[in-house]
Amino acid sequence: MTVASPWQASVLTLFPEMFPGPLGQSLAGKALREGRWALEAIDIRGFATDRHRSVDDTPCGGGAGMVLRPDVVDAACAAALAAGPDRPLVVLTPRGRPLDQAMVRGFAAAPGVVLLCGRFEGIDQRVIEARAMTEVSIGDYVLSGGEPAALVLLDACVRLLPGVMGAAESGEEESFSSGLLEYPHYTRPTVWNDRAVPPVLLSGHHAEIARWRRAQAEAITRERRPELWARYAAANPIAASRAPLAGHPDAA
Ligand SMILES: C[S@@+](CC[C@H](N)C(=O)[O-])C[C@H]1O[C@@H](n2cnc3c(N)ncnc32)[C@H](O)[C@@H]1O
Repeated sequence: MTVASPWQASVLTLFPEMFPGPLGQSLAGKALREGRWALEAIDIRGFATDRHRSVDDTPCGGGAGMVLRPDVVDAACAAALAAGPDRPLVVLTPRGRPLDQAMVRGFAAAPGVVLLCGRFEGIDQRVIEARAMTEVSIGDYVLSGGEPAALVLLDACVRLLPGVMGAAESGEEESFSSGLLEYPHYTRPTVWNDRAVPPVLLSGHHAEIARWRRAQAEAITRERRPELWARYAAANPIAASRAPLAGHPDAA
């Protein structure tokens, strides 16, 4: 099949061979082959202008490591944006705003994204500012390059594109979609190693099952992620007023 104008991802990287990598498999890979999204990995080194094809230089002010040059990065950004100027230009950096599902939904709703992967000590600040890049982090730890972060961001976006996920509801009920972590899942056998599936899930009573799942989702969010729970509780005062659920599988 062909999609009229697929969601378009451009990745600026010194290691274009890392793409599509894991995104060539499973849901994302199938969607890529079906033309639901498109991916181009652009080699930043292709925009170097000297005979050594240099992309980096030593940090002004001294210190360890190397910094990606603004002129080279800027030329790479211009080339990527020429193929889709309405897309957000995102730089992956530990200093960025932590990626969350709301941001992912925003990127997935755009015509696509341009992702800039840093290496070494990072990227010259002037090009980040001049291009008004959106700075995004995938967590409070340091990777050796932006490529794994770009793969994470792309994976999260692609599964939200129309026609990519099999069952539409699997996206509506999962963690973060309602501001809660997801309830626990069970399948057959109904008893495994003396552990039984919660009886309500075998009752066939849909309203009871929905109530149980909602209570589990609230309990696990309350226990594990107080900051998510505080936000949810502010928006759902009735849920917040209920006593914490006893006997939750993760309860201490
Ligand atoms: C070795 S890191 C540079 C770390 C930088 N000197 C610092 O202390 O913030 C090289 C590149 O990996 C990427 N990177 C590392 N950690 C990341 C994270 N948590 N989220 C997104 N990108 C990250 C960025 O593109 C960064 O420019």
